[in-house]
Amino acid sequence: MDMDNQCVNALSRQPAWHRGGLLLAIESSCDETAAALLDGPRHVKSQVIASQASLHALYGGVVPEIASRQHSLALYPCVAQAMEQAGATFSDIDAVAVTMGPGLVGALLTGVNYAKGLAYALGRPLIGVHHIEGHIAANYLTNPDLQPPYLCLVASGGHSHLVAVEEAGYRLLGRTRDDAAGEAFDKAARMLGLPYPGGPRVDEAAERGREGALHLPQPKIAGGELDFSFSGLKTAMLQALERANKAGQPVSVEDAAASFRRAVVDQLVSRCMRAAEQTGASTVAVAGGVAGNRLLRRKMQAACQRRGIRLCMPSLDLCGDNAAMIGCAAWARLDRGERSDFTLNAQPSLTLF
Ligand code: KG4
Ligand code: ZN
Repeated sequence: MDMDNQCVNALSRQPAWHRGGLLLAIESSCDETAAALLDGPRHVKSQVIASQASLHALYGGVVPEIASRQHSLALYPCVAQAMEQAGATFSDIDAVAVTMGPGLVGALLTGVNYAKGLAYALGRPLIGVHHIEGHIAANYLTNPDLQPPYLCLVASGGHSHLVAVEEAGYRLLGRTRDDAAGEAFDKAARMLGLPYPGGPRVDEAAERGREGALHLPQPKIAGGELDFSFSGLKTAMLQALERANKAGQPVSVEDAAASFRRAVVDQLVSRCMRAAEQTGASTVAVAGGVAGNRLLRRKMQAACQRRGIRLCMPSLDLCGDNAAMIGCAAWARLDRGERSDFTLNAQPSLTLF
C-alpha cells in the first residue's frame, strides 16, 4: 500500500470531529494556567490566561509544587471564564485539546487529567499537543495565511531551536548547546537583582540602557554554525561588571541589561539569518516567550526586510504560554484524523524531532 492510500484510510476511519462548535484547549505546562475556545482552525473565540508569576516571584523562580496546586485551583475558573466570554456551554464543545509535554510533570498532569475527564464526560475527541508545536502554531493565529515551508526561530524558557517547518513535519536545523535564550535572560536578571520573571524585566531595563557599555563577545561553537550557546555570556557579564567596579566605574543595571540583551539577540538573529540563507527560506517565523523581546522583534524586522524575507511573529499576547496556540496546533491534528485515547499521559521530556 502506498503512503497516500494509508493516509486516506487512516482519515476515513475517524468520524468527523467538527460539528460547527468549539474546540476547547488547555495549557498548564509551567506557570500559566490557560484555557481558550477556537471556532475555526486559526480563529480564537475567547482566551483566558491566569499567570502564577506573582506567587513564584517570592522564591525567584517557578516552584513545581506550587505550580501544580495553583493549576488545579485555577483550571476550572479559567475554563468557565473562557466559556462565559464566548457565550458557550459545555454542549458547544466539539473536542478537547491539552498540552501533554514537555514541561513540569505535576503541572502537565493537572491539565491532562482535567482534559481527559472532560472529553470522557462529553463523549468528544481528546488530543494531546506538544508545547513547542503550540508555540510555533501561535504564528498561524496572527498570520492566518502562513503555510509551510518556513523557517522558525523558537526561543522560550526551555528551548532555543532553529526549525524547518515543512508540510511533512519539523526538521531541527540548530539548537542551543547549553542554556535556552529565555533561561539566559532569567539568569542574567537574577545576577542584576531584577525580580522574576526575569526576561521581560531585562528587556524593560535594556530599553533605558546603552548596549555598548559592556563588551560581551559572541561564542565560537565548533562544528555547529546554526547552534546557540548562551551560558558563557553570563560569566562574561559578571567578569565585565567586576572589572568595571574595580576600576571605579560601575555600570548601571540598565547598561548591563542592554549589553546582555544585545549579545543574546545578535546571536539569535545572526544564526537565524544564516539558516535562512542556507535553506533559501523566503518566510521566517519566531516563536516562544522570547519572541516578545522588543529588540529581537526590531532586529528580526530589519534583517528580514534587508533580505526580502517575509517575517511572521505572534502578537505579544500569544508569545508567552497560552492555550490558543495549543488549540491551533490541535485543530490541524484533529483535521488530519489524529486522536489521543484515554491512556494519554503527561510527558515532561517529550521531543518534537
Ligand atoms: O514560552 P515561554 O512563555 O515558556 C516556556 O515555554 O518556557 O517562555 C518563557 C521565557 C522566560 O524565560 C522569560 O523570561 C522569557 O521567555 N521572556 C522574555 C521576554 N518575555 C518572556 N525574554 C526576553 N525578553 C522578553 N520580553
Ligand atoms: Zn512555552
